Amino acid sequence: MEIDVFTLFPAWFAWFSEQRHVANALARGHRLELVDPRATTPLGAGQVDDTPFGGGAGMVLRVDVLDAALRARYGEDPVALRDRRRVIALTPGGRLLDDGLAAELAAEPAMTLLCGRYEGFDERILERFVTEQVSIGRYVLAGGELAAMVLCDTVLRKLPGALGDERSATEESFSPSLAGAPEYPHYTRPAEFRGWSVPEVLLSGHHERIRRWRLAQSRGRAASGEES
Ligand code: 6GU
Repeated sequence: MEIDVFTLFPAWFAWFSEQRHVANALARGHRLELVDPRATTPLGAGQVDDTPFGGGAGMVLRVDVLDAALRARYGEDPVALRDRRRVIALTPGGRLLDDGLAAELAAEPAMTLLCGRYEGFDERILERFVTEQVSIGRYVLAGGELAAMVLCDTVLRKLPGALGDERSATEESFSPSLAGAPEYPHYTRPAEFRGWSVPEVLLSGHHERIRRWRLAQSRGRAASGEES
């Protein structure tokens, strides 16, 4: 998987790229590259954004700046690029990220993520250059960078070899193997602490009983989540 993140703050991703599951994915040949639109802006003094027509607060990322950055990266008209590659703008109002979307993206050979800042993107970027908009929740962040990292995190951990134990990615919360339900509870040593004991079934060594107990717990959590 080859991920390009267009961001005015590429340095934010240094910490993220060092995290073990990300570093593992990169060591296995996957790529996460940062592209700074300021480096290719056609405007003077590194300008990338502008005040909104019609007035109002904040600054808007310019369409000509993104056009230049995408052309410099891919050597083609960005309008054509989106026919052959997922180009995702991170926006608060976009399609909500969930496990299904993460799995869908993990199956792609490549994707491009666009991080907006300030008030966001000129609408023509969203209309002409992107295949979709993705949000990580109905609240507003100062920019798309944290959302891009969240998206990369959940996609990269689905790639084969990113995690130490492959089972941890398949039988986990919201995955098809748990029918989309939250994961069952986990316990480790000590088996008793301050009088709080671990469910007896987990200490029984009876794998079929454990499997059934876990499935029931997962379903029970799904049902109580629906109520709240
Ligand atoms: Cl993708 N971007 C911003 N700026 N805020 C958000 C978001 C994205 N998802 C939730 N809030």
